[in-house]
Amino acid sequence: GAPVTADISALQEGQRLILEWRGQPIWIVKRSKAILDALPTLDDRLRDPKSESVDQQPKYVLDKNPELRSIKPDVSVLVGLCTHLGCSPEMVAEIRPEPYDPQWKGGYFCPCHKSRFDMAGRVFEGVPAPLNLLVPPHHYQDDNTIVIG
Ligand code: FES
Repeated sequence: GAPVTADISALQEGQRLILEWRGQPIWIVKRSKAILDALPTLDDRLRDPKSESVDQQPKYVLDKNPELRSIKPDVSVLVGLCTHLGCSPEMVAEIRPEPYDPQWKGGYFCPCHKSRFDMAGRVFEGVPAPLNLLVPPHHYQDDNTIVIG
């Protein structure tokens, strides 16, 4: 499939832009400072906090921001499919405890079998999804233009 380009100049904090690339939904999400600060505090509740178990993202996102899994700290790019059986998780891009988990810090919740992921797409312990959400290959053409693929 050909690369897909997205203009993120209008993307606001907490918003998600959804594109399609190679038949898959691609999410581009702008994260708040509160979310970014919360992400490193979650590591001991995650199955693979450093995303090392298998290739789940391009190497350059881990080199740049290992816990954020992104090129720019605030802008997350993910494949929007649960790594269990491929349902589309719901997004909660704010710090809100209920009804998901008393320690919920925002993230993605898969309604099919209740897998939970944080706002970097990292999977929590004790849920069916085996892997973190995938980060597709991407780069910035300029400050507000992302190319997927
Ligand atoms: Fe997401 Fe099963 S498909 S938990």
